Amino acid sequence: MKIIDNLKDGQEILKKTNIPSYKIDCEILMSKTLNISREDILLNSEKQMKKEEREKYLNLVNRRKKKEPIAYITNTKSFWRDKFITNENVLIPRPDSEHLVEQSLKIIKKNQFKRLLDIGVGSGCLSISILKERLYCKCDAIDLSKNALKLAKINANLHQLSDRIKFYKRDVDNFYNDKYDLIISNPPYIKKHKIKYLDSIIYEPKIALDGGLDGLEVIKKIISKSKHLLKINGKLILEIGYDQKYKVTKLLKEKNFYINKTIRDYGNNIRCIVSTKIN
Ligand SMILES: C[S@@+](CC[C@H](N)C(=O)[O-])C[C@H]1O[C@@H](n2cnc3c(N)ncnc32)[C@H](O)[C@@H]1O
Repeated sequence: MKIIDNLKDGQEILKKTNIPSYKIDCEILMSKTLNISREDILLNSEKQMKKEEREKYLNLVNRRKKKEPIAYITNTKSFWRDKFITNENVLIPRPDSEHLVEQSLKIIKKNQFKRLLDIGVGSGCLSISILKERLYCKCDAIDLSKNALKLAKINANLHQLSDRIKFYKRDVDNFYNDKYDLIISNPPYIKKHKIKYLDSIIYEPKIALDGGLDGLEVIKKIISKSKHLLKINGKLILEIGYDQKYKVTKLLKEKNFYINKTIRDYGNNIRCIVSTKIN
């Protein structure tokens, strides 16, 4: 059977399951099956596929049919300017989190040495993206999840940054270290009772999403802790939920942080807050 016909079969299956991205998803899954680029698939669409290749492809399509995210099926996700290995132990890097990288790069000049802390490092996408563009910076990265740290280390190795990132398996509450110039964090911030309604919860780790009863449990810890971990004039860049701007800015002001700016995500919600520890 030709590649094009197999593609169509897969697309039919995903279309029936109401997966809006069925076309592109099948191209990606075919690309994984045949280990060639999507462009090459389209260029070679009249070529015949072997029986075992079709089986492998349909197996991937069936995983997608059950709503498994493409990033877990392919074990890879593009973020900022790079690709990162992903698996079910980490949150899939989101385009909205790229604002944290962009803001960090605005704060740190190209030739500066700065000490960074990434709280809840997950796949490592944030700190790795920043360090790749700021060659004199070093980063400490913490996470509660042993398996997330395992993957973050693999990504750091892949991007040849192992000598500039140190990993710690720690709750932010129990992390004591020297003073940092910049803290970045994309913490879990979904309200506990809302988690069950998320499509992704079947596959994504709860620990990466669960912000407790009010969605702010981890954010509160991070703000309190950052007060001690940051140098005076050090910056805290936080990702927040779409409806958390007022509560989080209030929490920051209570701890004497100055709000430098808030940044909207691609859906026009305030998603990121840049603040400064003033004393
Ligand atoms: C939303 S994910 C963010 C992952 C990654 N930084 C990103 O932006 O894709 C939050 C991460 O925080 C970790 N985490 C949750 N609670 C934590 C805590 N109290 N202390 C440290 N890390 C925590 C989770 O294991 C998870 O990896």
